[in-house]
Amino acid sequence: MQDLMQKIISLAKRRGFVFPSSEIYGGFGSSYDFGPLGVEMKNNIKKAWWDEMIKNHENIVGLDAAILMNPKVWQASGHLTAGFADELVECKKCHHRFRKDFLEKGECPDCGGELTSPQKFNLMMKTFVGSVEDKASETYLRAETCQGIYMNFENVLDSMRLKIPFGIAQIGKSFRNEITTKDFIYRVREFEQMEMQWFCHPKEADKFFDHWKSERMKWYLNLGIRKENIRFKEVPKEELAHYAKRAVDLEYNFPFGWKEIEGIHNRGDWDLSNHSKHSGQDLKYFDDETKEKYYPHIIETSAGVDRSFLTFLIDAYQEIEGARTKTTKAAKEVEIVLKLDKKIAPIKVAVFPLVKNKPELVKKSKEIFELIKPYFMCLYDEADSIGRRYRRQDEIGTPFAVTCDFETLEKEDVTLRDRDTMKQERVKIKDLAETIKNKLNVS
Ligand code: GAP
Repeated sequence: MQDLMQKIISLAKRRGFVFPSSEIYGGFGSSYDFGPLGVEMKNNIKKAWWDEMIKNHENIVGLDAAILMNPKVWQASGHLTAGFADELVECKKCHHRFRKDFLEKGECPDCGGELTSPQKFNLMMKTFVGSVEDKASETYLRAETCQGIYMNFENVLDSMRLKIPFGIAQIGKSFRNEITTKDFIYRVREFEQMEMQWFCHPKEADKFFDHWKSERMKWYLNLGIRKENIRFKEVPKEELAHYAKRAVDLEYNFPFGWKEIEGIHNRGDWDLSNHSKHSGQDLKYFDDETKEKYYPHIIETSAGVDRSFLTFLIDAYQEIEGARTKTTKAAKEVEIVLKLDKKIAPIKVAVFPLVKNKPELVKKSKEIFELIKPYFMCLYDEADSIGRRYRRQDEIGTPFAVTCDFETLEKEDVTLRDRDTMKQERVKIKDLAETIKNKLNVS
């Protein structure tokens, strides 16, 4: 199964999804860059989440808060204390450091040396703002996006005239000084989160916890994640984060084991009450109708963009022996198909001339490309045989390919090929954009 991970990492680099950061200098501690196809796919994942939260719910609104905040935020949230720290051990011989809970044996996995006793290691990333590197200007890169939401709870409530229950959603970068980064983009120090904070009456918190738990599972399934590869895991009491009363993880069956991709948390009144206490601002909610004043409880759905990206990539990856392309040479090769959901696929339509040495076909194909590119993320390709070009698109998950052939010049129609069924149908050029729109389910 680790072999599959190597194949995914190699495909990701070869086809422009994910590159190691600062590679010409030897990389940089598990930082990755998203390439031309990666950024498209990542944006599609974020859009699918944003649409699900904001477009589909009239009582969820968006926010884009700053990464840098007053350091008092992190004092009040509990992130600067032991709650947000992992247990670190160091090898007495080679001085490599490890997360204690990731070790399989009680010795150094690199050299077999003796390990120190565990010490708490805080995961906040410190930084300095302004020109003077002293205490006064020290702050942190945010470790979770949701704190920016709590900081704006009142601003959003007042400006949008919302009533409980309601949600605030945000997508953005978070940073954690992870001791052990591993498994490609699964555990990194700089990552993106998609978090929704649902503010509700304390008596309704359990009900909404169950509601959001099932909604979040549906989101992954609707985007094509195979049912057998995703599950819930109730987080045991002793493993709960410092802010959580209850937590359920959504786990995916990665080649390196079942691992968390998203957390659904009941944060109770931890955040609003602590921020009230530390800031002196009363963050209680006043219900006009019942005249009740209380701290809303928070149900949080917290997903990782990078982990979702890896999940979609792995789940979509298929190797098919030979039969898809009908050339004898290709029939001996293993073909890779990324069966990504159409919403997630980075390129939606590829446009080809059947052969490149016929100027009239090339000209017509380019006209077709120009005609449909305002509607979809399209790609034009004329290099190599038509079979090779189909395979290149299958490998990056492009749902549709349009081929312009000699009949096109006479009949003003093209072939439209479906990635999954490989069926080809002839479609009039004048109907092409509409036909693809319907197939992609975009308006
Ligand atoms: N606000 C709650 C919170 O941050 P979390 O369980 O610590 O909860 C939520 O993180 C999600 O953020 C995780 O399920 C994961 O998808 C993503 N995440 C957390 N740490 C990460 C890391 N080091 N690398 C990549 N993604 C990470």
